[in-house]
Amino acid sequence: MKLFRATLLAAAVLCATSAHADDKPLKVGLMLPATGTYATLGTAIENGFKLYVDENGGQLGGRKVEYVKVDDESDPAKATDNVNKLIKGDKVDVLVGTVHSGVAAAMAKTAKDTGTLLVVPNAGADAITGPLCAPNIFRTSFTNWQPGYAMGEVMAEKGYKKVVTITWKYAAGDESVNGFKEAFEKSGGEVVKQLNLPFPNVEFQALLTEIAATKPDAVYTFFAGAGAVKFVKDYKAAGLMDSIPLYGAGFLTDGTLKAQGGAGEGLMTTLHYADELDVPKDKAFREAYSKAYSTPPDVYAVQGYDAAQVLKIGLDAVKGDVSKTADIAAAVEAAEIDSPRGKFTLSKAHNPVQDIYLREAKGEKNPMVSVASKALADPAKGCRM
Ligand code: PHB
Repeated sequence: MKLFRATLLAAAVLCATSAHADDKPLKVGLMLPATGTYATLGTAIENGFKLYVDENGGQLGGRKVEYVKVDDESDPAKATDNVNKLIKGDKVDVLVGTVHSGVAAAMAKTAKDTGTLLVVPNAGADAITGPLCAPNIFRTSFTNWQPGYAMGEVMAEKGYKKVVTITWKYAAGDESVNGFKEAFEKSGGEVVKQLNLPFPNVEFQALLTEIAATKPDAVYTFFAGAGAVKFVKDYKAAGLMDSIPLYGAGFLTDGTLKAQGGAGEGLMTTLHYADELDVPKDKAFREAYSKAYSTPPDVYAVQGYDAAQVLKIGLDAVKGDVSKTADIAAAVEAAEIDSPRGKFTLSKAHNPVQDIYLREAKGEKNPMVSVASKALADPAKGCRM
């Protein structure tokens, strides 16, 4: 009788546990910018994420997905409070975010401390898959180093010798320029001046005057969102477009060409996505995204879509039990992700190992010119896992 009761009890506990995993909705905390210079990037990521979840019956790992949203305003000063609100207040199962490297670094620190599952669908902060790397942290975008490094090789090959860089003074800008400089100087080029302004300022005039006076062979830049729109327009209006060729990480022209109103025509950039790729998954994705949101997708939409894909791969392996970090990590590490950008895998540090494309802006598109760097892996300096 005692044994029978014990068995019953064990069965009840087992039922309760699996019922918990299967039946309870999966709370996804979307921490993204809804205001400020990166607002449109946040929207595209959210749209991409939701498109994938909808294509999978509104579920991930067998659990119905529910969303809790926070506007992080791309403000690092508010990041820790925002992420704690999601983890402790809303008790989310999974964190997805964000765009800004400084905000995402704070999210990664908290995720590492608490063990909360985190998928980063944009921010390139090298540290997230460097010193902050952890079994429960994944990124579906890039490191800031990656597009910069690829462009350093491209511009050296084009024969430029002296380049000025210009960007926002924070992790994304600094690391993008560092990646560029590493590859460019390795091939004999020289970065003669590094110009900066605080994020998200857009008073470029004095710096453009300095570029004109310095007369470099070319300029390398990292700007994104509304700031990229203003920068390209100002560069053109200053009469520099024809005299000092402008290059950049692809964020300069991704999702921004329409608003640039033709000023960005012909700009060459490097990125892990491009228009008109010969990738079957991309064709289906572009059609579904355009139909759902009445606007074409960009790199941010792809990264959001792939964040949901990565979560599904991990959560399917554990039937939705987010506490099984090691099994989730093992499943994701073994997977090939069927992305619209082309298939990619995640490195041991959980950052995409991916092709970086050279693209040229034409109308409102960034078609691929060539593969600038095949299966480029970030060096993941400082990652111990
Ligand atoms: C970043 O802060 O890491 C960042 C922001 C916007 C981009 C790319 C990177 O388009």
